[in-house]
Amino acid sequence: IMADHLDLLLGVLLMASPMFGIPSCSSDGRIALFRFCNLTEIPPVLNTTERLLLSFNYIRTVTATSFPLLEQLQLLEIGSQFTPLSIDKEAFRNLPSLRILDLGKSQIDFLHPDAFQGLSHLFELRLFACGLSDVVLRDGYFRNLTSLIRLDLSYNEIGSLYLHPSFQELNSLKSIDFSFNQISILCEEELKPLQGKMLSLFRLKATYLYIRVSVDWEKCLNPFRNIRLETLDVSDNGWTVAITGNFSNAIRGSQISSLILTYHIMGSGFGFQNLKDPDENIFTGLERSSVKRLDLSHGYIFSLNPRLFKTLKDLKVLNLSYNKINRIADKAFYGLENLQILNISYNLLGELYNSNFEGLRSVAYIDLQKNHIGIIQHQTFRFLKELHTLDLRDNALKTISFIPDLLTVFLGGNKLVTLPNVNFKANFIHLAENKLENLADLYELLQVSQLQILILNQNRFSSCSPSHAPSGNRNLKQLFLGENMLQLVWETGFCWDVFKGLSQLQILYLNNNYLNFLPPGVFSDLTALRGLSLNSNRLTVLPPGSLPANLEILDISRNHLLSPDPGLFASLSMLDITHNEFICECELRTFISWLNQTNVTLLGSPADINCMYPNSLLGVSLYSVSMEDCDEEEVFKSLKFSLYILFIVTWTLFLVSVLIVAKFRGFCFICYKTAQRLLFHDRTQRIESDRYRYDAYLCFSSKDFEWVQNALLKHLDTQYSDRNRFHLCFEERDFVPGENHITNIQAAIWSSRKIICLVSRHFLRDGWCLEAFSYAQSRCLSDLSSVLIMVVVGSLSQYQLMKHQSIRGFIQKQQYLRWPEDLQDVGWFLNKLSQCILKKEKGKKEDSRIQLRSIATVS
Ligand SMILES: *[C@@H]1O[C@H](CO)[C@@H](O)[C@H](O)[C@H]1NC(C)=O
Ligand SMILES: *[C@@H]1O[C@H](CO)[C@@H](O)[C@H](O)[C@H]1NC(C)=O
Ligand SMILES: *[C@@H]1O[C@H](CO)[C@@H](O)[C@H](O)[C@H]1NC(C)=O
Ligand SMILES: *[C@@H]1O[C@H](CO)[C@@H](O)[C@H](O)[C@H]1NC(C)=O
Ligand SMILES: *[C@@H]1O[C@H](CO)[C@@H](O)[C@H](O)[C@H]1NC(C)=O
Ligand SMILES: *[C@@H]1O[C@H](CO)[C@@H](O)[C@H](O)[C@H]1NC(C)=O
Ligand SMILES: *[C@@H]1O[C@H](CO)[C@@H](O)[C@H](O)[C@H]1NC(C)=O
Ligand SMILES: *[C@@H]1O[C@H](CO)[C@@H](O)[C@H](O)[C@H]1NC(C)=O
Repeated sequence: IMADHLDLLLGVLLMASPMFGIPSCSSDGRIALFRFCNLTEIPPVLNTTERLLLSFNYIRTVTATSFPLLEQLQLLEIGSQFTPLSIDKEAFRNLPSLRILDLGKSQIDFLHPDAFQGLSHLFELRLFACGLSDVVLRDGYFRNLTSLIRLDLSYNEIGSLYLHPSFQELNSLKSIDFSFNQISILCEEELKPLQGKMLSLFRLKATYLYIRVSVDWEKCLNPFRNIRLETLDVSDNGWTVAITGNFSNAIRGSQISSLILTYHIMGSGFGFQNLKDPDENIFTGLERSSVKRLDLSHGYIFSLNPRLFKTLKDLKVLNLSYNKINRIADKAFYGLENLQILNISYNLLGELYNSNFEGLRSVAYIDLQKNHIGIIQHQTFRFLKELHTLDLRDNALKTISFIPDLLTVFLGGNKLVTLPNVNFKANFIHLAENKLENLADLYELLQVSQLQILILNQNRFSSCSPSHAPSGNRNLKQLFLGENMLQLVWETGFCWDVFKGLSQLQILYLNNNYLNFLPPGVFSDLTALRGLSLNSNRLTVLPPGSLPANLEILDISRNHLLSPDPGLFASLSMLDITHNEFICECELRTFISWLNQTNVTLLGSPADINCMYPNSLLGVSLYSVSMEDCDEEEVFKSLKFSLYILFIVTWTLFLVSVLIVAKFRGFCFICYKTAQRLLFHDRTQRIESDRYRYDAYLCFSSKDFEWVQNALLKHLDTQYSDRNRFHLCFEERDFVPGENHITNIQAAIWSSRKIICLVSRHFLRDGWCLEAFSYAQSRCLSDLSSVLIMVVVGSLSQYQLMKHQSIRGFIQKQQYLRWPEDLQDVGWFLNKLSQCILKKEKGKKEDSRIQLRSIATVS
């Protein structure tokens, strides 16, 4: 067996060895490459040739004299001729060392029964799609091929497998492929010459076997009697439950390690009833066949019936993928005590119950990916003592509390939002493509102390609870966090310590996380990190020391790096820095020259390392940008430097004065006022008396009175101090008691030169105030002048003001004042308010004249 395997291996090597470098239609002495060369006969080649490749030509005949003596030739490929081929007696006798003969896909018109004689070393004969009939089997064409291991007769026109007795002597034969022929029946009589042999592969895929004729199994007996098969492929034959059952009964006792029954039509499918699901009798015939692998994938099984596999005591691998399984009956897996791998992926399971996997005492790996499982009963996997891998990818799970202690857990592509109490002991956890949001789950997972590989890409990590202290993890080697939103986490200033204590981490993926900065020291504990991907983020700078110390491979392509410092890449052996936004100015000089001579392997195409700015260099490769002009600039550097110093000094002085003014503006204002008074000898304008009784009507909410009195009245109203010069009007003092409130307001408005509304929170809630505001506005309209002054007091937003229609109307058209927040600005503000009160509006008459004139012009 060892020798066979070596031969097979050699075959693979022979076929796979490189043929690059040899021009078409020529030979290098050992390999002669003549594919697609319009040849009509065998070309002369050196006697040292080991491989002769002649497919895709027009060769019509091969006779005993076609080939010169080529004692070294091991591989002859002469298939896929564009013309029909005829092969004469002992056609290959001059090729005594031939090991592989490939005639596949040549239409063989004539094949002499002795065509293959003399090929005593041949171990592989490829005769697929050659238009051959039963005759090749019946008439002993393969006599004396004592080394033959593999015979490929697929895609021919073979209707019956009557084998010539000479097959008995083919002691090396291991693998025969009859797939895609039309063999309607196969009985004991036909394969008699194979009895006593052990074959590793017998393929009968897609041969219409047993489905076109009704078989009398009493007469047909067991086609594989006394033949030991490692793999029997009877897939894609359209077998129903009845045919499979009859077949398994017929081959009772024959040893078959691996039975391939894929692409069957067993099972009722989804929504149909006419075809039966396999029942407990279907495999009873296989009881003594020691079947270790059974592949029933790609079928229509809807329901796994009770005791379906009860006779398959030796079964180790069961593949039920790509069926329509929706129901697992109680005891469906009864008897599968040695099963190690159970594959139910790509089915229609929606929920799992405690009893589903009962009896699977040895199962180590259950593959349930691509179902629709939304709920799993708590004990489902708990009693499977040997289980170490559970694949639940691409289901609809929202919770994971049912997961027992496992080494490997696949949970990607589910609907997990949080992971409450993760308490498994896995070393591999796959959670990609879920909906995890809070980094708390990552902190939680890092507490799984054995964990080595953690896959969390394509989640939604975007928040973090600052309460979590990093626990670190001394086993974690690979962490996949790509395609999340870590930028949102880190920009809050929290969780900058997620990677603290991951001292063994070797590979970290942070691609596609919208990162525009790296938190300082975020990688400082990652001393073992060798590979880091920051691909597709928005980083513009990499500050010194931001990369882990021993990093070897860095992918920072598709960021916005402007002018990276090559010093950062000292430890690297590979770097992908394509698709960034380099600014091709003198600062980039060090990077460009580093790029030109570095030993670091640069991944990606050099054409993708190019300038983003200035526009004249947009898209130009950094390798072709010249930085020579930068040297000339050196000359100007000293001049520039002194200019720079001068500029800095001036700027500093300016800033200092601005600062002083800003900081002590209240004091400055007082100084200014005092100086003004002294200079102009207190010639404060006297208010010209006019027809108004008051200078201003102060409209405010009575709840604000205390404040108004202190802040305004004391500084403006004559009654409060002799130094004040305004006669103000306000409700608490000047309204006529007992009079109608509206009348009072109207009187106040019409007898004051200006109306000052102190809009505060209380004002907005006070109906009278709002009413007064509207009246004041209507006076503005009738006067055609802006007598209304609005002062906003307190932190009212634009939105709060806009809610009131009259105020909205006002602030859309005119400016309003805001009471200053800083106490020192009050003096200045009161001065400004005084000026507003004094400001004379244009007379009513003059205004209306202008209006009339403009109306006249229009008409
Ligand atoms: C084969 O013949 C075709 C058609 O005459 C021609 O285009 C092609 O170049 C030939 N190939 C060789 C390798 O001579
Ligand atoms: C190949 O042919 C040459 C003569 O053309 C002969 O001398 C040599 O021995 C042959 N080699 C082999 C390996 O047959
Ligand atoms: C081929 O086998 C036949 C018997 O089947 C035998 O007579 C003959 O000598 C063998 N030929 C060779 C070349 O070994
Ligand atoms: C299966 O075998 C039984 C008994 O020989 C026979 O009656 C039945 O027709 C067979 N079914 C098929 C589909 O071959
Ligand atoms: C069925 O599953 C087994 C193991 O789970 C695997 O080895 C085999 O390749 C699968 N068959 C097909 C057709 O995918
Ligand atoms: C299960 O079968 C599917 C499809 O045939 C295959 O892709 C998968 O790898 C198998 N699982 C295992 C564990 O072999
Ligand atoms: C790159 O280096 C070579 C010498 O190794 C030098 O001739 C060339 O000018 C350099 N190119 C740039 C853009 O620095
Ligand atoms: C590149 O490697 C060579 C030889 O290994 C070494 O002499 C040279 O200094 C290296 N250059 C840099 C920039 O590391």
